[in-house]
Amino acid sequence: MSTTLQNDLLIKAAFSQQTERPPVWMMRQAGRFMKEYWDIKNKYSFLEMCKTPEIAADVTMLPVDLLGIDAAILFSDILVTAEAMGGDLSFEQGVGPRFSNPVRSVKDAEALSTNCLDKLQYVADAIKVIQQRLDSRIPLIGFAGAPFTILSYLVEGGSSKDFKLTKLMLNNQPELAHMILQKIADVTVEYLNMQIAAGVNAIQLFDSWALALSWNDYRDFSHYYNKQIIAKLNRKDIPVISFCKGSSVFAPMMIEAQPDVVSIDWNADLKNIKQSLPQGIAVQGNLDPFVLYADKPVIKKKIIELFERMRGENGFIFNLGHGIMPDIPFDNVKYAIEVVKEFSY
Ligand code: CP3
Repeated sequence: MSTTLQNDLLIKAAFSQQTERPPVWMMRQAGRFMKEYWDIKNKYSFLEMCKTPEIAADVTMLPVDLLGIDAAILFSDILVTAEAMGGDLSFEQGVGPRFSNPVRSVKDAEALSTNCLDKLQYVADAIKVIQQRLDSRIPLIGFAGAPFTILSYLVEGGSSKDFKLTKLMLNNQPELAHMILQKIADVTVEYLNMQIAAGVNAIQLFDSWALALSWNDYRDFSHYYNKQIIAKLNRKDIPVISFCKGSSVFAPMMIEAQPDVVSIDWNADLKNIKQSLPQGIAVQGNLDPFVLYADKPVIKKKIIELFERMRGENGFIFNLGHGIMPDIPFDNVKYAIEVVKEFSY
């Protein structure tokens, strides 16, 4: 499918082919920093938006139409898989995601369903509507949460600062953690293959909270499952991007799972990371999202600095080290994208 795209910069860069400039998209590019997002959000709940294909498509298209990015990302959430498995999920304003039935015992884990793809059909339907709207202009990125990050939400019952209960489970009840992680991994493989069948052009696996783990725990409780998932995808010509906070430490292990791209957080020097990885592995990143609060000349300077550093490297996708914060000025995001698009090698 990627061969027919009018703008295939992202696909080319993901496969480490030469591009005239780095492609740009931003995590959380369809979100609360946009007035147009609120115009929709004020009428529906977040989950209603995700579950109504026409609305999910409207929101996916906002940054395409208003920002001119080089890739769209499906409007959904990483936690929809956990909901389909039986998690009672809600999103409360100012609180974030909540599961009213946390998974903390063998009985809770046994109750999680792995036969739940039909509950996620709305995602396939949304992808089809989005692809009609995109009309082959730019690629569409599909995504899922990685098992460890999903496990943390299920165990904690929501967001957590320290992942205390999750780590307690990994330490005291590793078999229980593995049982839940395997169930999530099985559902995630089916879910991502459903997204591929529905027409996404790239996949990103979000393991946002892997940075909480030690090297060995990352290997056993996160990497082991991510590797299984990536190996079981019907990839064809679809690149896989592996994201985690902590990637500047874990990148050498992440690449053993054979993604095409590793998304790097802002602690690392991107060029050093790139050169430490085997040929053919692309990098994505890694501007500190807080730069987008700054004055425009500062935004420009930091982006140009990153690009000068990456000059001559194929396989570079410009992104932030993590998502856009809701109170970042829209104008600054738009300006950053203009700066990227003016740049040419
Ligand atoms: O990037 C995009 O624009 C695509 C849509 C997208 C959302 N969530 C929409 C969303 C994607 C790719 C995600 C992934 C996601 N969701 C992650 C991984 C990425 C990351 O940030 O590390 C995680 C950890 C979640 C879980 C989640 N969803 C949290 C913690 C929250 C609440 C806190 C917050 O940051 O808003 C959400 C809600 C959420 N997901 C919103 C959006 C637009 C806000 C919903 C609202 O309008 O209230």
